[in-house]
Amino acid sequence: MVCSQVMTLTIDELQEKLKTWDGCELCKSANPVLGEGNPKADIMFIGEAPGQKEDELKRPFVGPAGQFLDELLASIGLRRGDVYISNVVKYRPPNNRDPTDEEKEQCMPWVKLEIAIIRPKVIVPLGRHALGHFFPKLGMTQAHGKPQKLTDGITVFPIYHPAAALHNGSLRQALEDDFQALKTFLDGKS
Ligand code: URA
Repeated sequence: MVCSQVMTLTIDELQEKLKTWDGCELCKSANPVLGEGNPKADIMFIGEAPGQKEDELKRPFVGPAGQFLDELLASIGLRRGDVYISNVVKYRPPNNRDPTDEEKEQCMPWVKLEIAIIRPKVIVPLGRHALGHFFPKLGMTQAHGKPQKLTDGITVFPIYHPAAALHNGSLRQALEDDFQALKTFLDGKS
């Protein structure tokens, strides 16, 4: 797709296009789940891949990890309607296994199109799969909670995946602290 088409494409139109896409093996066993939220959001959260609930409802982050994400957003005064939330992979991998490099590669154009349409100022990769999309050599342990310049207009602010922290007390604390650091960063930008 050429750039001028991207500029006029809406998220709803992208959603329609994804419904008829058959460019990855996962399409055969799962429903398409594009991102959702405020199409004018300055902040975009990107997770790994849909889970069971997301596949059922065809919406991102609506299962247990999504409920925790909602709480974390609320802890810094944000609601889902303020931000845009998506995933690097648009289909649920069988049994929620990690997405393969090939699956991430195949879905990459969709993520790029979402970013081109939303034009966020801050992108928050949730977990290593999303971080790897932007900075393949950067590890989450070293990068979480620290803003990374992607382009002149976009800062990437990596944070652990909420699902990883659901049953791990110390990771949960790190995630909550990172959200507070994100708030401080966002406050400094406005
Ligand atoms: N985990 C993710 O990475 N994405 C979702 O949409 C749900 C759980």
